Amino acid sequence: MIAIASDHGGFHYKEKVKALLLQMKLECKDFGTHSPEPVDYPDFAHAASEAVSSGLCDQGIFICGSGIGVSIVANKHKGVRAAACESVTAAELSRKHNNANVLCFGERLVGWGVAEEMITVFLNTNFEAGRHTRRVEKIHSLTGR
Ligand code: RB5
Repeated sequence: MIAIASDHGGFHYKEKVKALLLQMKLECKDFGTHSPEPVDYPDFAHAASEAVSSGLCDQGIFICGSGIGVSIVANKHKGVRAAACESVTAAELSRKHNNANVLCFGERLVGWGVAEEMITVFLNTNFEAGRHTRRVEKIHSLTGR
């Protein structure tokens, strides 16, 4: 189950992500927002991050204007490793090296073609483990989150 969330700045992309995941036959849970009316991104990113942190959802795709606000919120949650990405390479590395479980990006910064490719790569790339395992474990052991 993939948690999706956005504020007004990412609302149109969130709707497109929903359609894309449906096309990929992947289930998602939409934590809002549900219209382009201005809202506060922490409200939506927090609810969706809780779902990833608790294990209700395995992964998340969060969108705001820049991708930055939602990623800051997400990374405050235990067990969440959110990557704010603007390139396909970054999305791929976030999986291979960081075992990221939330992909964040900005509707105002990234074209839909790149966003679509980032999502595909993010969902289809495995963690490389090996030397990266110890580093990823330290993220949580050192911060307690
Ligand atoms: C909303 O205008 C904008 O600040 C928000 O979408 C996001 O980019 C914050 O990081």
